[in-house]
Amino acid sequence: MDASNNPTRSLSARYYTDPAIYQAEKQSSLATTWQLAGHASQLKNPGDYFTFEIAGENLFAVRTRQGEIKAYYNVCQHRAHELLKGSGNKGVIVCPYHAWSYELTGALRAGPNIDAVPGFNKAEICLQSVRVEDFCGFLFANLDNDATSMDEWFPDVRNELTEFVPDIERLKPVKWVEVLENCNWKVSIENYSECYHCRLNHPTFATGVVKPETYDIQPQGYCLRHTTECQNLDKMTYPIDLDSNPRAGEYSSWFLWPMVSFQVYPGNVLNTYHWRPVDHERVVVWRGWYTIDGEPSDVIEQLAIQDRETTVEEDIHLVQSVQRGLQSRGYKPGPLVVDPKGGVNSEHSIKTLQSWMRDATG
Ligand code: FES
Ligand SMILES: [Fe+2]
Repeated sequence: MDASNNPTRSLSARYYTDPAIYQAEKQSSLATTWQLAGHASQLKNPGDYFTFEIAGENLFAVRTRQGEIKAYYNVCQHRAHELLKGSGNKGVIVCPYHAWSYELTGALRAGPNIDAVPGFNKAEICLQSVRVEDFCGFLFANLDNDATSMDEWFPDVRNELTEFVPDIERLKPVKWVEVLENCNWKVSIENYSECYHCRLNHPTFATGVVKPETYDIQPQGYCLRHTTECQNLDKMTYPIDLDSNPRAGEYSSWFLWPMVSFQVYPGNVLNTYHWRPVDHERVVVWRGWYTIDGEPSDVIEQLAIQDRETTVEEDIHLVQSVQRGLQSRGYKPGPLVVDPKGGVNSEHSIKTLQSWMRDATG
């Protein structure tokens, strides 16, 4: 309830349908926040690099000769050609257009005939760097050079994740599942951020993985923390050993605004979500699955398949229907079901999320 004692209403439909709002977000919530770039295991050796994208910007991360991880805009400082594609290893970065070359520190190293140019000051030319942080082995980037650290944005998350997944620094990605959803990115994020729809729409998750009656979501800085207990062991769809770890019987997820989530399934199984908007009405959802040292695991393989075929598949239909509905003249934003006590049948988390969404577009 707000001060006038009226229920809080959901965001107006234009937030999800107006291309101008998406353009504004590209300058704000998408360009000034921490987003998943990749994993440190992709940059094992000096010169290893991978390209990625945030807020429509083409970027790359690289390990320098000194062992540091750096990220840069993937654009030549001469006449703007793209520098790198995909992933690989380079001792020096050479632009494919006129062969200007850059050190892994971003400094211009050489360029054909540049010494012939009166007043050319090589030292002034450097690739534009981007903030990057290693968060439990996951690499996050932020286009805002003045952004505060991830630990300030997401208090306690690093410690909690390590408690739930003690070997997190040894994990390596073993499986990526990519899903295109025909909806605005915020529709998908909101759907992820409440479990009011779970019992009706996610029978496998709600009866074979977690106990929905214990589900809650609470803000923790710019994190929305989901907590619940695992389902009774005889109903679990995969085996877990409750004695293996004090947290083995719990499910928890840490959604890091605006579009990343660490999710730990019962049995301390880490998996991730991250979202990449394509435009104002399409978003790609990535599911990542990990094992210690990247060892193959039948349990993880089966869980990833089950998750794709049930929860993920079920959500695609929900979010795409919502996107169509948001374009209907017959829709006016409805009241959120905010139960002051929280719990699974409450949308208090959506209220918080939508306040961040509103703030981000001014
Ligand atoms: S644009 Fe890169 S060397 Fe010319
Ligand atoms: Fe869902």
